[in-house]
Amino acid sequence: MACPKIFLSCLLLQVMFLFLVPEVAHGQGLKVGFYQKTCPSAEAIVKKVIGEVMSVAPSLSGPLLRMHFHDCFVRGCEGSILLNSSTNQAEKDSPPNLSLRGYQVIDRVKTALEKACPGTVSCSDILAIVARDVVVATGALSYDVETGRRDGNVSSLTEALTNLVPPNANITTLKADFAQRGLSVKDLVVLSGGHTLGTSHCSSFTDRLYNFTGKGDSDPKLDSNYVARLKLKCKPNDQTTLVEMDPGSVRTFDIKYFDLIPKRRVLFTSDIALLDDSQTKAYIDLQIKTGGSTFFKDFGVSMVNMGRIGVLTGTAGEVRKVCSKVN
Ligand code: HEM
Repeated sequence: MACPKIFLSCLLLQVMFLFLVPEVAHGQGLKVGFYQKTCPSAEAIVKKVIGEVMSVAPSLSGPLLRMHFHDCFVRGCEGSILLNSSTNQAEKDSPPNLSLRGYQVIDRVKTALEKACPGTVSCSDILAIVARDVVVATGALSYDVETGRRDGNVSSLTEALTNLVPPNANITTLKADFAQRGLSVKDLVVLSGGHTLGTSHCSSFTDRLYNFTGKGDSDPKLDSNYVARLKLKCKPNDQTTLVEMDPGSVRTFDIKYFDLIPKRRVLFTSDIALLDDSQTKAYIDLQIKTGGSTFFKDFGVSMVNMGRIGVLTGTAGEVRKVCSKVN
């Protein structure tokens, strides 16, 4: 900022700038404990409902974590993933989102919150708190969730299609897609660690098993013994079978996903691609060597970073009464 004529007013401007920048960089109006005065029991209510859900349907931890990611990457974290469309043209109708589940859990949380504090807690904040609570329920370290998001009123199938990262993405695309949303290379590798939970449909990776380059071959970056095992589970056009992403511990938040990457036993090109960048590879090596010395803490930090993408705060957007429709 150059100070051409009036030195004093320019100095004042610079001081104001210094104060403004951290505000902008800090998730534009989000803060930990946003509902402390307006709905003090908000987070406890979410935690209680998620505790009940996890005790009867633990397999929903993966989908509920993924739901927050898919919300944030399309139009920012503003709850557009939850909106219904009478013509099936919403984000949730988009092919990458057809495998999402757990919307009824979000509705259940919302109903409980509306009962306690009507019209107060946004659906986008619910997604962020639920994501934290499911990872903690599966073994992750707890972290403070920033709240204060408001809900958007647009949801588009095509936007989801163009904005969600495909499983065949290479490292260049992955880094660019994350950077575009203000997320670092470290956030990319840390958040990919979310694949320690949950399952994938065969259809998300069968291209790696059959006819990878059009010659009836499989992806050489996939361990050949693992290819053989996966082929037993997934036939070429299988649209329904589910495969564990981190076999043996899909309901436990641990570092086994990172162990599997150098062994070439991960399902997606986007997973193995994390070996193609020196920073992401170094992170994986470190977590393996140290038994995940920093992963649990890093995950909370990166989730907070992800939760800041494109948020609506202040008077922007609205607090939906029902998460699947605009007010
Ligand atoms: C880096 C780019 C990413 C790509 C390309 C990707 C891709 C995928 C794909 C294709 C599936 C399987 C969907 C299915 O067929 O059912 C999946 C599942 C999953 N992803 Fe990702 N993902 C990425 C990042 C993330 C992030 C950042 C998170 C959360 C922090 C996440 C959490 C999950 C979880 C928990 C599941 C399991 C869902 C379930 O059990 O139904 N992913 N991902």
